[in-house]
Amino acid sequence: MSLILNDADIMTGVELIDKHHLKYFSIANNLLARIEDKAKNEHLFKELNAYVVYHFDTEEEFMDKFNYDKTPQHKEQHEFFKNKIKELSYLYLVTGSLDEDAKNKISSALIDWFVNHIQVVDRRLCNFILEHSRTDTGIVEKLRYKLHDFIFKHGDHGPTSSFPA
Ligand SMILES: [Fe+2]
Ligand SMILES: [Fe+2]
Repeated sequence: MSLILNDADIMTGVELIDKHHLKYFSIANNLLARIEDKAKNEHLFKELNAYVVYHFDTEEEFMDKFNYDKTPQHKEQHEFFKNKIKELSYLYLVTGSLDEDAKNKISSALIDWFVNHIQVVDRRLCNFILEHSRTDTGIVEKLRYKLHDFIFKHGDHGPTSSFPA
């Protein structure tokens, strides 16, 4: 099982966020493809947990900066997914459980997030950012800075964490 990438479905024109979403695509697809491979997946689960923190923080920073009108609903979805990934990671990494039910839960959570959040909810946020960037050149610089900062710190691979502590 894997996610199919169609550029038009994921690319929004907000370079930093697009880059983060490509990173999600890569982690999620690796997990979906190697769900049985415990050695590889341990690293991917840790990476996914680190990813949701730095990616959601980035989007939320923009929401706050622009007084985005859907901020509470969007943050609520982030919180929900962050907790779900944490819970599934513990199930997998700590209890070592990977029965059919656990595998299905992991797969549906990853796919659902890609289809219903990234392609719909995040696109709306990105359109809002782009619309407001036209009249706020400062934010364009900020977006550029954050992208360079992200690549400088993490390369194209993003950070990893030591989850679970
Ligand atoms: Fe996102
Ligand atoms: Fe989001």
